[in-house]
Amino acid sequence: KPEVKQRVQELRQLLQQASYAYYVLDSPIMEDAVYDQLYRELQSLETQYPELVTPDSPTQRVGEKPTTQFTSVRHNIPLYSLENAFNIDELQAWDQRWRRQVPPQTAAEYVCELKIDGNALALTYENGVLTRGATRGDGVVGEDITQNVRTIRSIPLRLNVETLHVTSLHVTSLLERVEVRGEAFLPLDVFKQINEERQKAGESLFANPRNAAAGTLRQLDSRIVAQRRLDFFAYTLHIPGMDDASIAGSQWEALALLQKMGFRVNPNKRLCTSLAEVAQYYQYWDTERLNLPYMTDGVVVKINSFKLQEQLGFTQKFPRWAIALKYAA
Ligand code: IVH
Repeated sequence: KPEVKQRVQELRQLLQQASYAYYVLDSPIMEDAVYDQLYRELQSLETQYPELVTPDSPTQRVGEKPTTQFTSVRHNIPLYSLENAFNIDELQAWDQRWRRQVPPQTAAEYVCELKIDGNALALTYENGVLTRGATRGDGVVGEDITQNVRTIRSIPLRLNVETLHVTSLHVTSLLERVEVRGEAFLPLDVFKQINEERQKAGESLFANPRNAAAGTLRQLDSRIVAQRRLDFFAYTLHIPGMDDASIAGSQWEALALLQKMGFRVNPNKRLCTSLAEVAQYYQYWDTERLNLPYMTDGVVVKINSFKLQEQLGFTQKFPRWAIALKYAA
């Protein structure tokens, strides 16, 4: 039986690599037919030897039997929301405000990311394996929706441990326990399709993709969720008990690390060295975003350096080091 166990591990690794290439890198390395064949081989071995099934197996994404309710979870690090700005003047006002807290002419880089109109999720990985997926809730208490999160193909059930260099202490801690946050969303075509089905069934329509994603994430039957093509872009990671600057020095580096770990990171990001560049990014995406297959409602501007972020800190509700620059609806 050791040969079986080895084959099972080999199949999982091949399938994991293939789906990383497909869902995260958007550059497939395996024919669909080959993937299906390997998947079926794994499935049949797991049926024959149920004791070999693990929660991070690629076969574990199809949903489980319905639950009756979700349990509450407390976020050790709260999920903050963002202050809004509606034009470049308000962006400049924000910039002047945080600059009053630091020495004059402090150099800063800004990371621009698209603001995805979805739902924030907090994902916990222990020893490299996804153990919990929770909604943001009110920022402090959310809901445990792990069984639904597991069905999202672009969320790794297991981190890409092999590609991370396990040399530094920080990587070791990261592999022990890490929380990754990002936005779960429904592609626009799925949103439209769900609403068409609801209309036919005489049900009320979802107002926007964010509500549709929220409704899907809170489905009690994860088998339905598995059919919905929810997707996820990661944007931050935290190691409990460790300051963020020791994992990566900046937001830009954190995004690169997240991608290496196995997450889909939105490619339409930009590292800017001036507010003028930020304004240019904002203007560019105002029209260009209409060509994307998912809904965006603005740009999130973040100060790149984690050291500077730490100096600025938070108000009651918002980080002082970031702002959501929204588009007119
Ligand atoms: S950063 C403290 N980045 O927007 C950092 N949020 O209005 C807060 N959102 O609750 C989050 N895309 O659900 C961040 N690239 C992005 C985002 C993003 C969408 C959502 C997120 C957050 C809300 C704040």
